[in-house]
Amino acid sequence: MDEFQTLVDADERIEPRDAMPEAYRRTLIRQIAQHAHSEIIGMQPEGNWISRAPSLRRKAILMAKVQDEAGHGLYLYGAAETLGVDRAELLDLLHEGKQRYSSIFNYPTLTWADMGAIGWLVDGAAIVNQVPICRCSYGPYARAMVRICKEESFHQRQGFEILHTLSRGTAAQHAMAQDAVDRWWWPSLMMFGPPDDQSPNSAQSMAWRIKRFSNDDLRQKFVDMTVPQAEVLGLTLPDPQIRWNAERGHHDFGDIDWSEFFAVLNGNGPCNAVRLERRRRAHEEGAWVREAATAYADKHRRVSSTAGAA
Ligand code: 3HC
Repeated sequence: MDEFQTLVDADERIEPRDAMPEAYRRTLIRQIAQHAHSEIIGMQPEGNWISRAPSLRRKAILMAKVQDEAGHGLYLYGAAETLGVDRAELLDLLHEGKQRYSSIFNYPTLTWADMGAIGWLVDGAAIVNQVPICRCSYGPYARAMVRICKEESFHQRQGFEILHTLSRGTAAQHAMAQDAVDRWWWPSLMMFGPPDDQSPNSAQSMAWRIKRFSNDDLRQKFVDMTVPQAEVLGLTLPDPQIRWNAERGHHDFGDIDWSEFFAVLNGNGPCNAVRLERRRRAHEEGAWVREAATAYADKHRRVSSTAGAA
């Protein structure tokens, strides 16, 4: 498969019908499926606040955002299907706990300010991680990411705006915003994955140009981007070791508690059980919608083939 690597090295796009190493195909299915699952599981923590949004405007924005996440899941399952898997199969693997979704969605949303912190930090981290995927070597994944990233930047801004308003509100509102940032900061840094020296997939994924930057490089980029934004918000990042390092041209920051990350990955985060249980239930309760949509599509196909024959 030297020919394949030559194409990748020349920054050519690999398309579904092109020859590809089986391990490349499997890596993409793993990553795209995990990404798609993250989008749809990610609807839960925010869906939790739709009925309690503080105004009609906030409610409408939050509903649109949660719907966007469902749409991102659809683009991504669609991209995975171009690799010869079925989305129903991928959903079964998620429900059986055999495929992962992002660690970040195993934390609870305790106050309205969490909607701000998720938008600002979680969607902010997602953008830093996902913009390079717009240049991923696999065409369908890269193209799906272009649209997703545009929507994510709206999500990030609405989160920033929620926190900006709360931070300049009453003392209680400011404290609520600070508390949300305190709780979401470290888990957001963990979203980028384990440190480079403990990331088994990075080297190969970078050689295949599925990943363009390492987990640690993207994490650093996120910290550098976020520190000045926190100042504008008038909020503090919960890490006394954050400081500008002129020599490195980056911000230094404190040690991440990787034991927490691995506990969440192993199913022991605060909300793992509830997230999966709700997802399985939604899938079961939605069976009639899938059946109706399939029946409608079959009918439509029959009608158009009869019309074509006439
Ligand atoms: N949460 C859960 N699992 C994670 C993880 C995280 N934050 N970070 C890494 N892992 C898992 C990996 O999947 C891998 O497990 P596996 O081999 O059993 O599949 C293991 O930890 C080792 O990590 P690696 O660094 O070797 O794995 P990768 O090379 O796949 O890198 C990644 C991990 C950086 C997350 C990469 O997969 C990636 O960039 N994925 C695409 C982006 C994505 O999935 N984002 C989800 C974020 S949320 C989101 O987008 C929704 C938005 O609305 C906020």
